[in-house]
Amino acid sequence: GCGAQKKKVSQFEEDHGIIVGFSQIGAESAWRTCNTRSVQDAAAEKGVQLVYANAEQKQENQIKALRSFIAYQVDVIVFIPIVTDGWDNVLQEARDAGIPVLVTDRKIAVEDQSLYAGFIGTDSLKEGRTAGQFVLEKFAAKRESFGQTKEPITIVELFGTEGSSVANGRAEGFREVLKSYPEFQIIYSKSGDFLRSKGYELAVEFLEMYDDIDVIFSHNDGMTLGAIEAMEERGLRPGKDIVIITIDAQQEAIDALREGKVNCVIECNPKTGPEIIKLAQRLAAGETIPRLQYVHEEVFYETDNLSLIEPRGY
Ligand code: AHR
Repeated sequence: GCGAQKKKVSQFEEDHGIIVGFSQIGAESAWRTCNTRSVQDAAAEKGVQLVYANAEQKQENQIKALRSFIAYQVDVIVFIPIVTDGWDNVLQEARDAGIPVLVTDRKIAVEDQSLYAGFIGTDSLKEGRTAGQFVLEKFAAKRESFGQTKEPITIVELFGTEGSSVANGRAEGFREVLKSYPEFQIIYSKSGDFLRSKGYELAVEFLEMYDDIDVIFSHNDGMTLGAIEAMEERGLRPGKDIVIITIDAQQEAIDALREGKVNCVIECNPKTGPEIIKLAQRLAAGETIPRLQYVHEEVFYETDNLSLIEPRGY
């Protein structure tokens, strides 16, 4: 009967744990690699069997991975959507198969919100606003003189992956804060896909194009570190000749902050594995989970007591 069958299932779960399909974007940054490791470690610790798929930066690969999880009948799907749009159909298939879906790190836009159980991740809009507020304060003096000099504060933006919720949120929050201050001008904004190599390439380009850049707002540390390299090759002093704001807070960015090469580091927290696995276990047990959960994130300023920052671990 029912009871016997139930016992069998729970016996299986005791021996093997639940099976979670984990669709990761790829390995574009140190942040991403740390995030993958965090989920894998947490799964191993809790005896959760993780089926890991690396989409190598392609949405179509992610959709294929989700379909294979459905065919395999995993208990729960955890996925990090590379871009916001285009998930309705495959999520409908997961729903038809009765598999709950946890979205993490990046958000999705679907017509039917009930196509996924919940989201846990970063608040990218807030990150962008924090960056905007830092720039406002940092340039208080230059802003005052703008009335007479009409000399704008020029900003270069290194944009993350186009169409991703995190890049869009960071860009939007930043603009929202600065939009009522005409003294700020974004003179260049291009996607470096969160890659260090592209951050370097874009910096080579914009440093060639403009002589008077005041600020670089970079959507992640990888691109920032590439841009710093390009600046130094040109004999420029990052953090002094150009103010730099970066997002993630990997160890190399904190080191750059300590060396005065970066002015503000806004944390995006990759170590969400334990929380993700806990939520997946709850979903597998048929429980509901919160619709929206933001993880704890800090901001590190050049004026902070930087000796107090704990090693970042990645
Ligand atoms: O989605 C989070 C972003 O993706 C991180 O800021 C970036 O480093 C990563 O590649």
